[in-house]
Amino acid sequence: MDLTEIVRGAFAGAFPGEDHSAVRVVPATDPKFGDYQCNDALKLAKRLRRNPREAAQKVAAALAGEGVFDKVEVAGPGFLNLTVSPTWLNERLAALAAAPKFGIPQTGAGKRVVIDYSSPNAAKQMHIGHIRSTVIGGAIDRIFRALGYDVIADNHLGDWGTQFGILIKGYRELLTDDERANLTVATLEKCYVLSAAKAKEEDGLWREECKRELVKLQQGDADNLALWKRFIEISIGEFERMYAKLGVKFDTYRGESYYNEMMPGVVEELVKAGLAVESEGALVVNLESEKLGVAIVRKSDGGYNYTTSDLACVKSRVAEYAPERIIYVTDARQQLHFRQWFSIAAKMGCTTTLVHVPFGLMSFQGKAISTREGNLIRLDELLAEAKRRALDIVKERGGDERLAEQIGYGAVKYSDLSHDPITDIDFSWDKALALEGNSGPYLQYAHARVRSLLAKAGGAPAERAFAVAEPSERRLALQLVEFPGAVVRAAEAYKPSVLADYLFQTAQLYSSFYQSTPVLKSEEPTRSSRLALCALFGDILRLGLSLLGIESPDHI
Ligand code: ARG
Repeated sequence: MDLTEIVRGAFAGAFPGEDHSAVRVVPATDPKFGDYQCNDALKLAKRLRRNPREAAQKVAAALAGEGVFDKVEVAGPGFLNLTVSPTWLNERLAALAAAPKFGIPQTGAGKRVVIDYSSPNAAKQMHIGHIRSTVIGGAIDRIFRALGYDVIADNHLGDWGTQFGILIKGYRELLTDDERANLTVATLEKCYVLSAAKAKEEDGLWREECKRELVKLQQGDADNLALWKRFIEISIGEFERMYAKLGVKFDTYRGESYYNEMMPGVVEELVKAGLAVESEGALVVNLESEKLGVAIVRKSDGGYNYTTSDLACVKSRVAEYAPERIIYVTDARQQLHFRQWFSIAAKMGCTTTLVHVPFGLMSFQGKAISTREGNLIRLDELLAEAKRRALDIVKERGGDERLAEQIGYGAVKYSDLSHDPITDIDFSWDKALALEGNSGPYLQYAHARVRSLLAKAGGAPAERAFAVAEPSERRLALQLVEFPGAVVRAAEAYKPSVLADYLFQTAQLYSSFYQSTPVLKSEEPTRSSRLALCALFGDILRLGLSLLGIESPDHI
């Protein structure tokens, strides 16, 4: 049983009938307070208007009978300081080493979630601004799968809208035969720019023709539809090359177009339910009472918008997949949009948990990313550069291209995932590729070092028996048993950074253990125990990194 559960059990024994679900045990801030601390007795006593030290004493008495702790102390106004017994710790380590997925609980078994992420616009090349949704969404996807959830990763492509009229017209008239035959996303992007520029011309002729092509497409004209399909297929093909490098994979690519025909029905439903009303020719849902303003669901020209599209989309997903949750990973500027339509969906009777995971802006080497700044770097260029820079680092050590990809792409991903998604981040090559500090290469290097240590010892010990004794060894051990909890917390908060922080701290504790405690030169049975601890560290680090979408090469 997990420590938190044990402590919750003691609270329930001491104070039956109260809600103890918020009780938490956290690692002690200072080893002199023991291994763990809990300040919930204090909170409980406040709530019940009781003496806090007495409340803590009562819980402490209940805990003493558990056989888990060597020492339970009531400190200060009513804190609980806990020191676990070596027997318990050694058993926990052995259980963790033997457990599937190193003890990650299968709390998601039998539950389905849809995760909507990356979602770029078709016919445009992916650029540096697409990293965050792809990488954060990809990590959340992996973390939820590890917890046993049935995950449907859906790429909500921007594959519908006025740009396709402009593209079709441009494709027919502005591209060479050769460009048409060997169509790429780069060509489509160029085609769009040229055609859009012509659509701005005085006489308006080109603009009219673009509109005509769009209407034909919307009405199902076979030629235009075939062209549109081709644009989408080519786009997905190129996106998948990026996704392969970033280690993400989608189950479906249902773009906005998929929900197109469902939008009138949604609006009709909103009107019938009295939720949408007319305002200046448009149909709107008033959300002022929730301080969410007014959401347009049909524009005055009769067209639908992003809100209508997401409402149709959620309806379709709920009907088809019956998920317990749908998670959307987009930049923080879309927060109002999500709050608005989540509220409308709830009013329409949607009971599925809808979660928006917003992320902050990314700047590049201290500069805002914008087309105007001229630093709208293409994603494939960024990844190529990452690989090139990593190759410079690993070449001296005899590393090859494959290793350079693992390190370079890992560095790019980790530099994002090591921050709380909501914060604005700055990408810098020096920080991302640093071999010291909180970086991907640092963690990969820590992993490779432990592998080489185990290789020197002739492999990890077949039997994982633990006899932890030294303080630095004990601290590492206590940290390792927190692994399943770190994965759970990352999922609960929708923050891969929680797992990244955990891995970085673990690697630091390993490093101080390794510096202060002999492993290969120690006597049996200590040697085997320490090797088993090293092996467990290496395995947990590798699994943790893989959940972040980062590979762990054995040699660097
Ligand atoms: N295509 C949108 C964008 O580029 C993101 C879509 C997110 N998903 C959604 N269901 N709204 O910002």
